[in-house]
Order: sequence, then C-alpha cells, then structure tokens
Amino acid sequence: MSAIKITEKVFYVGAKHPERRIFDELISLPDGTTYNSYLVTGSLKTALIDTVDPAMKDFLFKNLKRAGAGKIDYIISNHAEQDHSGCIPFVLQANPGAKVVTNEKCAAMLKDFTMVTDENLMIIKDGDTLSLGDKTLEFILTPWVHWPETMSTYLREDEILFSCDLFGSHYSPSDIMAGEHFYLPAKRYFAEIMCPFRNNVRNNIAKLEKFKIKTICPSHGFVHTSPEGIINAYKKWAADDVKNEVILAYVSMHDSTKKMAEYLRDALEEKGITVNYFDIPVSDLGEIAMMMVDSATVIIGGSTVLAGLHPAAQNLIYVANALRPKTKFVSFITSFGWGEKASEVIKANLTNFKAEVLSPVISKGWPKEEQFKELDRLANDIAEKHRAIGVLK
Ligand code: FEO
Repeated sequence: MSAIKITEKVFYVGAKHPERRIFDELISLPDGTTYNSYLVTGSLKTALIDTVDPAMKDFLFKNLKRAGAGKIDYIISNHAEQDHSGCIPFVLQANPGAKVVTNEKCAAMLKDFTMVTDENLMIIKDGDTLSLGDKTLEFILTPWVHWPETMSTYLREDEILFSCDLFGSHYSPSDIMAGEHFYLPAKRYFAEIMCPFRNNVRNNIAKLEKFKIKTICPSHGFVHTSPEGIINAYKKWAADDVKNEVILAYVSMHDSTKKMAEYLRDALEEKGITVNYFDIPVSDLGEIAMMMVDSATVIIGGSTVLAGLHPAAQNLIYVANALRPKTKFVSFITSFGWGEKASEVIKANLTNFKAEVLSPVISKGWPKEEQFKELDRLANDIAEKHRAIGVLK
C-alpha cells in the first residue's frame, strides 16, 4: 500500500500485513491486518501519528518518502503496544532531535518496550494541545481501549480523530478508505480486543462526543469517512443489549455430546431462537467470540476426558471468560463414560460471566429418553428467559 492523501496535509503512511495470521500469538487474523500510521504536515512542524510493526518498517519509510515527508519533528504515540510503537526508535534514528509525544503512562511503557529515553520524550496531559503552525493537535486520554495508557489525538482544523486501536479492524483491505465495508471486520475486532473493556469503551465514546469528528483514522484497518456508522456500532456492541441468539459450541469424542447438541439446536430453533452452532475443534475461535458480543445465551458442550473437561472446550471457556461477554444466561451439556468431571470444570471457569446459570444436561454415555426430555426442558428454560428479557416475543 502506498501513501494515501486523506486531506490536503494528512497522509496515510502505514503498512499492510495481509499474510499475518495471528496477533499476540493469541488471536487469529483470517484477513490479515494493517498498521496505520499518519503524517500531518503543518506549516511549521511535521508530526507522525503512531508507527508500524517493526516487521513492516521498510513500508513505513517508503511511504514517508512517497508522501514527501521532510524532517519529522514529533512522533505522537497513542499506544505503547509494539505494533504501533515498534518503529519509534528507527524514526528517531532517521530524525535526530524529534520528540516522542505521549502521556506519562505510555512514556513509562515506551521506555520499557522500545528503549526510548527521557531526552526523547515530551509528556502531555489530557486536553493539552500541540501546534504544528497551521495545524493543532489535541490529546485526549482514552484509557483501556486497549491498554491502560491508550489515548487519542484530534486534529482540530481537519476534524480528524486518530483513535489508535479504538474503532479499528484486523483487516487488510485493498482500499483503506472503503470504510463502508467496516461492519464484520470491526465487530470481530471489537469481540477480540475491546469486549473485555466494554465499560471503558462506553466512557471514552461519551468523552469523545464533544468533538466534531469528520473522519476517524484508527490504527488498524479501514479509515472511517462516515464515522457515525462505526460509532453507532460500537455503542450497540458496548451496551448491555443482547439478541435472541444462543451460541451452542461443543466438542464430542464419540458423538454423545454431538447428538445432544443437535437435539438442543433443533428444539431452540423450533421456538424461534437463532442458534449459532459450532463444532469447536473445526471452528474459528474469533468467529465464536464475534457471536458472543450480543448473544443472550451461551451453551458449552463437552465430554469428560482424562478426569477433566475436553481441552478444546476448556480452551474456549478460558478465552470466552477472559473476554467478559455480556451474556445473560449460560448452561452446558456434557457426557461421560465412567466418571463425570466436565461440569465441575465448566462451572469453575466461568468466573467472569455475570450470567444466570441454567440447569445443565449431563449424559452417561449415549443420550437416552431421559436426556432428551431434559434437553426439551433446557430449551424451554432458555425460551422463557429470552421472553423475560424481551428478546423473544
Ligand atoms: Fe494494535 Fe493494542 O495494539
């Protein structure tokens, strides 16, 4: 991707990374990602807003050249994570005397992660401004969207918000300006990155409301030239509202749990409930996380193996629990051969779910009439709960 003009004096100079398949060695990236860096050329000074992952350093420098960048005076660091800060030392090396402008918490992290020193740093506080001549940058502390030090930078004259991770998407589009296609990539990104910080997202969006925003330039994926779309989507995802949907994710060794999952899926669908159905070992964890953003109910299915829960289900529970979804109801279906342990493990590992636990269904071996009756009872319980919160009519 080459340098792209966003406004007369603002250029995209970031890098695409379409072949990247995992982030933080944790989150799958089926569509790759981008590291968005922006150049703002004022009449007196030039600022670079965030850099790129060190693996893509050459693209940043090529794009700076294509954008006609002269000397960079300020490197604005909105977030210390290395996919944005990792090239700060190289930019400093190429621009002796440049200052890294950031908040106190971020500065401390940059010293740990990038070997930036005090003499390179200019510390700003919430609401401080920095003049580039005919352009003015205003700094807005927006903590916990993704880390505690995250902040945003607002370019007053152009009404551009540089929001770093907030409003991003792990997606590597051919056209970074085609923001109308943001929805699914941004929802997946919200699920994987922002969901645990939903309350902070809400607070920070409220804080940003006093700014007139014409364009949002996040640090991953699409630039948003119609920002109301992404802002409204974020408000919805971060709110407590849920949909008339159930996530039914299971792993089955000899089809007992699978048989129960199929039966429950059909029973729920007959009641008018949408079921997002996943066979865990062949499913994309990111897609399950995306569905978890607004499903009212989560059902985990898994068998007892080696005196515990099947590891595929355990991994899903671990990740789901870390994402702190707004799920209202949770239950599980499990099967076992001679000693039942899976249900204990599931219950013990859903500590961050503030959901009501509905009575589970447990089968010794192949499910029989008794378990099918219980699955009907569970489907009824879920339908009643969905009606009670007004998502099922
Ligand atoms: Fe894109 Fe939290 O880094």
